[in-house]
Amino acid sequence: MAVKPASEHAHWSSRWAFIMAAVGSAVGLGNIWKFPYEANSGGGGAFVLIYLGFVFLIGVPLLVAELSLGRRGQLSPIRSMEKVAKEEGRRTAWSLIGWSGVIGSFIVISYYSVVGGWTLSYMIQTVLGNLQGITGEEAVAGFDALVTNPWMPLVWHGLFMGITVGIVLRGIEGGLEKAVTLLMPALFILLIGMVIYAGVTGDFAAAVSFLFQPDWSKLDADVILSALGQSFFSLSLAQGSIMVYGSYLTRQVKVGKAAVTIAAADSGVALLAGLAIFPIVFAYGLTPGKEEGLVFQTLPIAFGQMTGGVVIGTLFFGLLTVAAITSAISLLEPSVSYLAETDKFGRKKAAFIMGGAAFAFGSFSSLGYGILSDVTIFGQSIIGFKTYLTNNLMMPMAGLFTALFVGWFVSRKAMMDELAMEEPWFRVWYFLVRFICPTAIAVIFYHVVIGF
Ligand code: PFF
Repeated sequence: MAVKPASEHAHWSSRWAFIMAAVGSAVGLGNIWKFPYEANSGGGGAFVLIYLGFVFLIGVPLLVAELSLGRRGQLSPIRSMEKVAKEEGRRTAWSLIGWSGVIGSFIVISYYSVVGGWTLSYMIQTVLGNLQGITGEEAVAGFDALVTNPWMPLVWHGLFMGITVGIVLRGIEGGLEKAVTLLMPALFILLIGMVIYAGVTGDFAAAVSFLFQPDWSKLDADVILSALGQSFFSLSLAQGSIMVYGSYLTRQVKVGKAAVTIAAADSGVALLAGLAIFPIVFAYGLTPGKEEGLVFQTLPIAFGQMTGGVVIGTLFFGLLTVAAITSAISLLEPSVSYLAETDKFGRKKAAFIMGGAAFAFGSFSSLGYGILSDVTIFGQSIIGFKTYLTNNLMMPMAGLFTALFVGWFVSRKAMMDELAMEEPWFRVWYFLVRFICPTAIAVIFYHVVIGF
């Protein structure tokens, strides 16, 4: 199987398209669905502050590292890692970082698409007015009925995966770029609209103190690891997505600036999502859920009671669906690019194969709340296990090795040339990626795996 030369590798048509794609990858269910309930179970403000610390001290340096490795390689993550390692006279075993990303993103898309399917279903339910006037019990029962149904979640999961494949098979300019440059501005407008609405009608003060007042007593090693896992997940790190997006970059783009923009947009959206959701939750006297039910069980009660709930609810679930789709395409891209760069598969065939396989693998997650709800892996549900495996084990591990590779095994000169950063920023970045990232990840990892 011959690999097409790097010169045939596609490129973003502009810096704007790349930023929209990368922010689209980062902003997703992780920000709007997961961040609020993780923040809630991690003690509100304490979790938020630690999370932001991780985003800027570990996330940004790693974003820079991954984007630059991808751009240097100009191939899919596995082959880019192999190529850069060879150029630097290192073992090709470093390509395991690429493998971990491709396998990790495949595992994530398999369950991400299940939750994406739930959002699609809720969007349609809201448009049809089915959530109007529902009580707390009905909202909980409605969500349970959807996720435990033997075949409906599979249909939604299939539909969501179909949309994702439909975009990815059209390639970088024709598919990914067109989708993100249209959808991302729409997402920002919808989100700002939701925050204004929540600010005017909801209990904004309670939401602000909940999100920003730290309760340090809730902090333990597990919360710190979930804040780290959440920052990786939210920034799409160590999953091949950012590296593959980096491989479509031209040399003109300043990777450092781009990384800060992506991280700022991503955490900004997570906080705005909190400010859109919690004021409504508190204004209606609801207790925020600590689990995946927060946006699916708690918010519909509020949408069901408020005037204009159909419109606001549709906007909210539309927003969630858009965010999920632009992330899902970046989760399918690493494995698709690996197949598509060989002469055996075209992009279309590669997208169908990987999308089909991820759908099949994800169907176990989809059924994990219904007929397979008795199945546990190491005491966890199927989605719970996949999330733990990818967010808490594979991502920190791959992040650790990426930092070590770039900080210690690629020459300083090569990185300086690649990044073209002004001083003192290069020195700051190099210090963070060489010392702070590996130490912090290793310490947190050690404490959680071995226990305090
Ligand atoms: N960052 C996305 C989110 O917050 O929903 C999810 C994600 C996308 C994770 C791409 C990992 C990835 F490679």
